[in-house]
Amino acid sequence: MPRKVDYGFRYEDDNYDVYEDYDYDYADDYDYEEEENGIAPVTKAKQEASRTGVWRCPICTYDNENSMSACDICGVLRNPLVKVNNKGDTAAAAAFKFDAPSPDDLVSNGLRSVKSKSKDSRGRGTNFLVESELAANGLVSSSTSVTRERHNGVEENDSTSGSGNKPETFNTRMDTESLPSKSGKARSIIERKTESISQYIPEKWMTPNNKDDGLSQLNLAIVGHVDSGKSTLSGRMLHLLGRISQKEMHKYEKEAKQQGKGSFAFAWALDESAEERERGITMTVGVAFFTSRKYHVVLLDSPGHRDFVPNMISGATQADAAILVVDASMGSFEAGIDAIGGQTREHAQLIRSFGVDQIIIVVNKMDVVEYSKERFDVIKQKLGTFLRSCGFKDSSILWIPASAMENQNLVANPSEARLSWFKGPSLLDAIDSLQLPERDYSKPLLMPICDVIKSQSQGQVTACGKLESGAIRTGSKVLVMPSGITATARSLERDSQLCNIARAGDNVTVNLQGIEGNQVTAGGVICHPDYPVQVTNRLQLKILVLDISTPIVMGSQLEFHIHHAKEAARIVKILSLLDPKTGNTTKKSPRCLLAKQNAIVEVVLQGPVCVEEYSSCRALGRVFLRSSGRTIALGIVTQVIKREE
Ligand code: GTP
Ligand code: MG
Repeated sequence: MPRKVDYGFRYEDDNYDVYEDYDYDYADDYDYEEEENGIAPVTKAKQEASRTGVWRCPICTYDNENSMSACDICGVLRNPLVKVNNKGDTAAAAAFKFDAPSPDDLVSNGLRSVKSKSKDSRGRGTNFLVESELAANGLVSSSTSVTRERHNGVEENDSTSGSGNKPETFNTRMDTESLPSKSGKARSIIERKTESISQYIPEKWMTPNNKDDGLSQLNLAIVGHVDSGKSTLSGRMLHLLGRISQKEMHKYEKEAKQQGKGSFAFAWALDESAEERERGITMTVGVAFFTSRKYHVVLLDSPGHRDFVPNMISGATQADAAILVVDASMGSFEAGIDAIGGQTREHAQLIRSFGVDQIIIVVNKMDVVEYSKERFDVIKQKLGTFLRSCGFKDSSILWIPASAMENQNLVANPSEARLSWFKGPSLLDAIDSLQLPERDYSKPLLMPICDVIKSQSQGQVTACGKLESGAIRTGSKVLVMPSGITATARSLERDSQLCNIARAGDNVTVNLQGIEGNQVTAGGVICHPDYPVQVTNRLQLKILVLDISTPIVMGSQLEFHIHHAKEAARIVKILSLLDPKTGNTTKKSPRCLLAKQNAIVEVVLQGPVCVEEYSSCRALGRVFLRSSGRTIALGIVTQVIKREE
């Protein structure tokens, strides 16, 4: 049966918009897609936002109210300096303080509202929610902030900001240097022991022995626009390959029909929760297994709805390869590839930025378009151009016309005469033609925890995740971070089957002994006891800023995503701007970061995360910065900075 992975992210109110993604692996090949007439949608929107009553900052291009004598965002003086409002001098002076804005400055400029949550006697430890209220079209766009508890007790800020042409707002939460820990108590940060990874020698059992090991696991993310048929396709494949029995299938069909959702019967195999079934959408990543001729396939059925992009990020980040499902119906493919809100587009970009370079495009629902070759060719041509702009090579893209509903071209070549024009492989053959990425057997164990299952009755704690490096076997002593507790792997399961050994690339559940449930958290990492993963709340990052309309400045508060962890973060330093081609520094200490700029920044997180430098472990050094429900930058960890307690 499929296992559901709930990362606890609920983004009901997110306003997730289009952005370009980036992978540092292919920086040189990456071309931004030029929009119509060479104008990006955001630029167009900004141009539309230009109007009388505002002046545009020549540095950061922000549209300021006419009453401002200096740019509200980057502090640049208006030229010529206009003394316009009744406290014109004050406004200019306040704007000059932008390098280290205090909440009071932000209040005093009259364009931001600040909610004070707590303040100590010295003003340190102040925890502010700052809502930027940016003017657009002569109106002030509203930005609402909701603070709530995440599943592991972390406060998260969800924001909805005005849509349309209104500038996006960053939900800025101004914390001082002393960041509170999740529990309110200072959390100990475990220092790495002196053992150098270069001295690590794997034991013999840790390296695979092709004779005994059977099929390898392939982690396959199923991604794509909402309603394109990802779960139906996954359910159908599981049924065809014998992972869902006829009896279970009848049950799904009957129940789905009773709820008036008969067409979702196959999707119900993956969409198990009452809410998912009721709404007819996937909300959390469904994990299921099947065996092809060449692989034990781990299916990661992602949600397509934009509200659940964080769940998609957390699940699909484990992918070795991906299936991008697109809906062939007229208008639906176009909605998915649309520059605003198209998830075909966003998912393709995200998947590429996870380092995935092999992708199968399933052009699904071909039954709706009469299995038309012309429609398939149009989709292939349009989407192909976009995928190339994301950095996918033509030779790594496989195109499969299919119908999950009518079982065409899934595990066998099509029986439908109208699809006889297609001479390529079936989906299952296409999966078998994928190559496994290189696995890191030579390094110590690192397994980011994506999910924790606690059985209170039996007192068992089970951690699920993919081994990014090293190996584990029954009886192994492991270190669970960030709690720093040593536990024993009592048993292991791979593909829902007990196994003795799991190695890099394997997606497993590890039953742990000698540890309490609250000491194992999603977002933590299981590692070799002598080689603990680094844990910090201060990092240097190399980032690529996506299509944003409001610059990132020092003090900008963001959501920081890394493997399965998420923390509130604050930009504390903008160290340099980089040339995107050469990586050389072009400017030191810039005041702000604009769309498509590459930069080195330093961030401080609200709580510590398990992290490695990208150069030593890619999966633990790849970050996503989000704000107001949008991914605003992608990056890699260049330096793990030790935090002074
Ligand atoms: P999210 O997970 O919410 O993004 O949706 P999804 O991509 O998993 O889509 P899902 O499988 O839930 O299917 C959405 C609708 O499309 C359902 O009504 C399916 O019956 C229908 N559907 C899926 N595949 C096909 C197909 O091949 N042909 C037709 N005609 N309908 C299909
Ligand atoms: Mg689904």
